[in-house]
Amino acid sequence: MTAAGRVAVLVSGEGSNLQALLDHVHGRDGIEIVAVAASNPRAHGLERAEDAGVETGVFEVGGDTDRTERDGALAAWLERRDVTLVVLAGWMQLLSADFVRRFHGRLLNVHPSLLPAFPGLGAIERALEHGVRVTGVTIHFVDEGTDSGPIILQRAIDLPYAARVEEVEREIHAVEHELLPEAVRAVARGSVRIDPDDPLRVVHEEGDGGRE
Ligand code: GRF
Repeated sequence: MTAAGRVAVLVSGEGSNLQALLDHVHGRDGIEIVAVAASNPRAHGLERAEDAGVETGVFEVGGDTDRTERDGALAAWLERRDVTLVVLAGWMQLLSADFVRRFHGRLLNVHPSLLPAFPGLGAIERALEHGVRVTGVTIHFVDEGTDSGPIILQRAIDLPYAARVEEVEREIHAVEHELLPEAVRAVARGSVRIDPDDPLRVVHEEGDGGRE
């Protein structure tokens, strides 16, 4: 197994992107999903992980636990499992700067817009309210800002006039379910990484459709 082949996925809800990774990445090309963490115990992604025989954990903020403590416990749980790549797949909470630094260059997020347009929550709704004619999906490395890290892959979709949120969500999800597995495979095999000379950009090795 390659150094980046032990993958953890972080979820907060439905987990359809986790399912795409379980179906198309897990157990292939030396990549294993070894852990799934949820920010709440009701996340449906937990059931998907259990059905696939993947270890799960719940890491909530609340009561005596603040975000810094939660993120410290989560990072330690991931490190104990020798996780080499962490994928935020519908993880709906900010992560502390320390967590982001610990997994620098090994932390990915999927976002339902063409970043840098519409970062943060409600990206699909805001794109529609704005009347944009094209939106899409971005997979990026996570930095300390909100959806501001170096971009790995993007794919656009055209928006018809009067598009409905539910239809666009369906289309965006279908694109995410292709693009996220593609990005995880590329990062795991080491053919995509943050450019050491320009940390706002990503270098793709030849053959990955990127730029050098
Ligand atoms: C996706 O649209 C992703 O872009 C966003 O949250 C949604 C998660 O969906 N960050 P799911 O939980 O993977 O079904």
